[in-house]
Amino acid sequence: MNPVANLLRTHQTHRPRRLRRTATLREMVRETVLQPSDFIYPLFVQPGQGLKQEIGAMPGNYRWSVDRLVEEVGAAREEGVKSVILFGLPAKKDAQGSEAWDDEAAVQMAVRALKRSYPELVVITDICLCEYTSHGHCGVVEHQEVLNDPTLELLARAAVSHARAGADVVAPSDMMDGRVGAIREALDENGFDQVTLMSYAAKYASAFYGPFREAADSAPQFGDRRAYQMDPANSDEALREVGLDLDEGADIVMVKPALAYLDIIRRVKDTYGVPLAAYNVSGEFSMVHAVAERGWMERERTILEVLTSIRRAGADLILTYHAREAARLLKRG
Ligand code: PBG
Repeated sequence: MNPVANLLRTHQTHRPRRLRRTATLREMVRETVLQPSDFIYPLFVQPGQGLKQEIGAMPGNYRWSVDRLVEEVGAAREEGVKSVILFGLPAKKDAQGSEAWDDEAAVQMAVRALKRSYPELVVITDICLCEYTSHGHCGVVEHQEVLNDPTLELLARAAVSHARAGADVVAPSDMMDGRVGAIREALDENGFDQVTLMSYAAKYASAFYGPFREAADSAPQFGDRRAYQMDPANSDEALREVGLDLDEGADIVMVKPALAYLDIIRRVKDTYGVPLAAYNVSGEFSMVHAVAERGWMERERTILEVLTSIRRAGADLILTYHAREAARLLKRG
C-alpha cells in the first residue's frame, strides 16, 4: 500500500464523528433541548355541556365544552403541559362578532374554570373576531372592506373581557395596525397592567391555516385575508411588524406559521433578542399526521424533529397541537 496515503488516513486531525459515537456523548454536546415548558397547547372551546367533537381535518383535536376541556387540560398537565391557548366558538355569529367580548361566552367561562382548577396553569387567549363574525373576517367590514381603526376598540373590549375572566396572557391574532397599543392601553386603564401581551407580530397569509378554519368555522365568506396578513414573500417587513409591536408594548412576539418561516424566526431572534413564540399551525400538524398515517414517515421522530427545528431557529416557545404527545415523548426519553 502507498505509505503516504496510509499516513493521511491514520492522522486525520478532524473527526466530527468522535462526538457522535454514543448516545451520552451526543446528549452532552446537544445544542438545542426541548422541554414541555416550551409548548403552548391550542384548544377549541364551545358553548354547551359534555361535548367533545373531533375536527375532521385535525384528527385527535376536538371542540370541547368547558366541562370536558377542564378534563383534557388536567390530563395534559399530568403529561407536563404548562400552558394552553384558547380559541372560542360562539353560540351565534353576528356582523360585529359581539360574543368576543361577552363575559359569559365560552372562552371567558373556560378561563374561569381552568384558573379555578389549575391556578398555576398559564392560560392564554387568542384575541380575534373571525371566529365570531358572520362574514369570517378579523375586523369590522364595510363595503367588503375590513376597516382597521373601528376594529381596534372591539379587540380591546375582547382583551379586557378575557383579562377580567382571569387570562394570564392575551394574544391578538387579527393583524390590524395599532392593535397592540390599543389593547395595552385598555388593559392598563382597567387595572390589568400585569396581563401579558403576546402579539402575533409576523403573521402571514398562509395556506397552512386551512384545517384551523374548519375547526373554528372561520373561513372568510368573501375574499381572503391578504389585505391584513403578511405576504409570504416578505422578510424585512416582518422585522418592521415586530418592531412596531414591541414599541406598542408587546411582551412576547410571534412568528406564524413556523416551518415555512424558520428564516423569519431566526432573523427576529437575532435582531431583537426578545421572547419569541412560533406557531406550528394546523396545516403543519395535519401534514405530519397524514404522512404518518400512510406509513410514509415515522410520526414520533418527525414530531420531535419538527419541534427541535423551530427551537433551533430561535423560538423560545412553540404553539403546537403536538404539545401533549411531544410532552409524553420527552418524558419517556
Ligand atoms: C385567527 C387565527 C387563525 C389562526 C390562529 N388565529 C386563523 C386565520 O388567521 O385564518 C390559525 C391557527 C392554525 O392554523 O393553527 N385569526
